[in-house]
Amino acid sequence: MLTVDGIDTYYGLSHILSGVSLTVAPGEVVCLLGRNGAGKTTTMRSIMGLTPARRGSIRFKGQEIARKKPYQIARLGVGFVPDDRVVFADLTVDENLEISQRPPRSGSQWDRRAVCEFFPPLGAIGSRRAGFLSGGEQQMLTIARALVTNPEFLLLDEPTEGLAPLIVGMLEENIGELKARGLTILLAEQNQKVALGLSDRAYVIDNGTIRFHGTIPELQASEDVRRKYLLV
Ligand SMILES: Nc1ncnc2c1ncn2[C@@H]1O[C@H](COP(=O)(O)OP(=O)(O)OP(=O)(O)O)[C@@H](O)[C@H]1O
Ligand SMILES: [Mg+2]
Repeated sequence: MLTVDGIDTYYGLSHILSGVSLTVAPGEVVCLLGRNGAGKTTTMRSIMGLTPARRGSIRFKGQEIARKKPYQIARLGVGFVPDDRVVFADLTVDENLEISQRPPRSGSQWDRRAVCEFFPPLGAIGSRRAGFLSGGEQQMLTIARALVTNPEFLLLDEPTEGLAPLIVGMLEENIGELKARGLTILLAEQNQKVALGLSDRAYVIDNGTIRFHGTIPELQASEDVRRKYLLV
């Protein structure tokens, strides 16, 4: 579904990603693991066209998207849940969902009702202003907003970061359920426990370069990789 091939990405003069390549097949959950500042968010921003890659190719369902604008990439069916959980703070939860709604494509049928069934806490706070939500509620809303665009492929940037264990457990179940419903996911995580439990395969990034890719059992067996690039 997604093929990233040898991309280089910069912020101004800073060369951040060097030759990053990865693939995600339909229905897979693939995690991108790496420490603080390793390049996880930059990889997702490159895929989304928010910080376009200067070299290399990104293909989504066979189509080159590396030179497309973020809104065009979104329309092709790529959803993005950014790590900053930005919502429209002055709008209510329902209004946030309403303005993000896109027509369903074959397969997924997410609308306000469906996401509130999926995240029951959201259903109870539909008229609350999004600026007054807890961290967990805000994360649910950010994921829900991406879902109502009816994506085929979802970029999830550290969805569990900084949340209480109870909420983390709930989100893990939700993400597992999205996978079960056939959504294809690229998941950036520092939390190995969450990532390894949910994913089919893993990539490890460090200093803007992919250092490892393999199955979860392969990563679990690679003490060396985990010690060098993952444990803080
Ligand atoms: N807007 C920016 N301008 C310049 N440099 C940036 C910018 N955003 C990130 N960087 C740098 O790019 C590198 C990769 O950052 P990135 O945010 O992709 O890492 P990350 O793996 O997502 O880290 P974290 O786990 O903290 O979210 C870091 O060295 C960071 O300092
Ligand atoms: Mg990040």
